[in-house]
Amino acid sequence: MKHIVVLTGAGMSAESGISTFRDSGGLWEQHSVEDVATPEGFRRNPQLVLDFYNTRRKESFDTKPNKGHIGLAEMEKDFKVSIITQNVDDLHERAGSTDVLHLHGELSKVRSTVDPSLIYTLTADNWEIKLGDKCEKGSQLRPHIVWFGEAVPMIEEAMHTVQKADILVVIGTSLNVYPAAGLLNYVKSGTPIFLIDPNEVKASRNDIYFIKEGASAGVEKLRELLKI
Ligand code: OAD
Repeated sequence: MKHIVVLTGAGMSAESGISTFRDSGGLWEQHSVEDVATPEGFRRNPQLVLDFYNTRRKESFDTKPNKGHIGLAEMEKDFKVSIITQNVDDLHERAGSTDVLHLHGELSKVRSTVDPSLIYTLTADNWEIKLGDKCEKGSQLRPHIVWFGEAVPMIEEAMHTVQKADILVVIGTSLNVYPAAGLLNYVKSGTPIFLIDPNEVKASRNDIYFIKEGASAGVEKLRELLKI
């Protein structure tokens, strides 16, 4: 079975109703990255940061995977599919994908601010964290999200996975954020790369087959192309 590695970004979940970050009207137009997505922002105003991620978490619990997520999950019948996502929602898992690596953390999890190994899973009925919600060691809980300025613990594993790819597919990411965007450079030479995005994306290489579609239509087109 050929091994397809898929790198996804916010555009993957756009058709499920989740905002992207850098498109017009995106999240970073409405919120300051420094305020809501950095350790300094959390120290300055933890309530603001908890509220931001509580809203994102509720939104993610309330939405459903789109045809793109479902199409990728269905591809496991014909391929070994590994998904590396920058997304913090769990829509790939809920669509049925079985091998999903979250580079930037997971909304459904929260962790201790003193012991990062103490991770707790929230549910649709218990989606909020408040100031004063503590881990078993008595420290405030924080979102299990990789903020700007923090290490990306899963990047090594992601690089190894990309190195093993027979085909790389990139969906719905502006490739603005490193180290995730640099993963494209870890493919073996000659590996076909497909990029699905309705808009032009500046990639660091020019040997990419561009499918100019949204995630749902793009995954359908990809599946047709791979049948040949
Ligand atoms: P961006 O918001 O930077 O890029 C979203 C991409 O999705 C753009 O290239 C859009 O053209 C594309 N897009 C829009 N609608 C789409 C659709 N229907 N189908 C497919 N693609 C579509 O989001 P990311 O590249 O994911 O990190 O951003 C990377 C990281 O920056 C995020 O993980 C987040 C953010 O700051 C952290 O918060 C740490």
